[in-house]
Amino acid sequence: MKMNAGIESLAFYTPGFSLGLEELARHRRQDPRKFVEGLGQHRMSVPPPDEDVVTMAANAAVRALDGVDTASLDSIIFATESGIDQSKAAAIYVHQLIGLPTTCKAFEIKQACCGSTAALQMAQALVTLRPDRRVLIVASDVARYGLGTPGEPTQGAGAMAILVSATPKLLSFDPESGSYTEDVMDFWRPNYMDEALVDGKYSIKIYLKALSESWKGYHADSGRAFADFTRFCYHLPFTRMAEKAHRHLARITGQGDLTEADLETHLRPSLRYNQVTGNSYTASLYVGLTSLLETDPADLSGQRIGLFSYGSGCMASYFSGVVLKDYRNQLRIDEHRRMLDDRIELTVPEYERFYEHRLPVTGEDYATTVHTRGRFRLAGIHDHKRIYEQVTATAVPVTPEAALSSV
Ligand code: HMG
Repeated sequence: MKMNAGIESLAFYTPGFSLGLEELARHRRQDPRKFVEGLGQHRMSVPPPDEDVVTMAANAAVRALDGVDTASLDSIIFATESGIDQSKAAAIYVHQLIGLPTTCKAFEIKQACCGSTAALQMAQALVTLRPDRRVLIVASDVARYGLGTPGEPTQGAGAMAILVSATPKLLSFDPESGSYTEDVMDFWRPNYMDEALVDGKYSIKIYLKALSESWKGYHADSGRAFADFTRFCYHLPFTRMAEKAHRHLARITGQGDLTEADLETHLRPSLRYNQVTGNSYTASLYVGLTSLLETDPADLSGQRIGLFSYGSGCMASYFSGVVLKDYRNQLRIDEHRRMLDDRIELTVPEYERFYEHRLPVTGEDYATTVHTRGRFRLAGIHDHKRIYEQVTATAVPVTPEAALSSV
């Protein structure tokens, strides 16, 4: 039987620092239960000053390409809404950092959190036309809102690398999908701002409307119904959003009210990683998929998963895939758990110092202090150019004290 294009390998990266949301709530004089139960978030990842979307993406990409012949790569597509240059694609920096061949194209794509899904759909078409080629998608973002704003507890950071090929090992995509696009101002970031502007309550309403509309399109295209899925993944701005969305989908498809046991089975394993990293915009749906495959105790082989991608502004897609037989052999469970568990826990003043760090915008040369615990870092700026480097073993700060020095 002919297999559809899909995911051959997946790798996830998040910076080595995090902040507990109970601690943040106390500092902001909020009830910690609002952040933990109301939003469903426990911790958020915090990038240090020498990490950005390029270094996070490079860290994910080297893992996803472990053992892969990079001569087969047609392109590396970088999806982000925290871009570092108006002209040059962040993909080219990653291409150089991880040593991809010059025959591999590199470009960037944008539509808020949904850019990664547009890249994925483009990649499927490409490898279906040319089954001898692969496409690497990197989705990397830093979710930043103003200090003390309602969006602050939904911040986070992370990157996913997704290798798409005609011979997938983890998940093969169904060709059908449903999409929805509408010009709305629920969330945006003007070029002159470092933080997103958001109409929070409105963004939730539009997310749910886009879910209804793209589901309608998916259902018309595929003929599949709610009962054809055993697991569901959603874009995860905060994990309670997925619960709201899933209950909404159940209602509009005539399932009525779901029980706690339904939510536990359909949804909760996909929320575990995001609960402790926060929103990673373009990466977040795929962090959810990784979390599902790595933490669900059931054998998911042969199961169909529903996927909902939402990008503010807005564009959304409903699509689906089937988990492949040997998926468990392709996972990086220990590596991902270690990365999450070994993060250094920041205090609120330490987090605020990382948050307030800015690279100079007036063109002077600048060198960053070594904080990162990953393999790549932003060394600084020289002659208006960002300088990246691979971290040598001796440069990696081994103790929390060293990693936090000169914060
Ligand atoms: P808020 O207005 O401060 O919070 O901000 P709230 O008052 O709505 O409370 C949140 C929840 O906590 C509510 O639950 C409260 O009841 C509950 P709900 O009623 O909705 O089920 N709560 C409590 N629970 C237990 N104990 C308590 C307690 N107090 C309250 N004591 C908001 C919330 C999400 C609006 C804000 O965090 C925000 O603006 N976040 C950023 C925007 C966002 O994440 N939007 C989501 C949809 S848009 C999207 O997903 C796209 C995006 O990823 C960007 C992109 O595409 O590029 C953002």
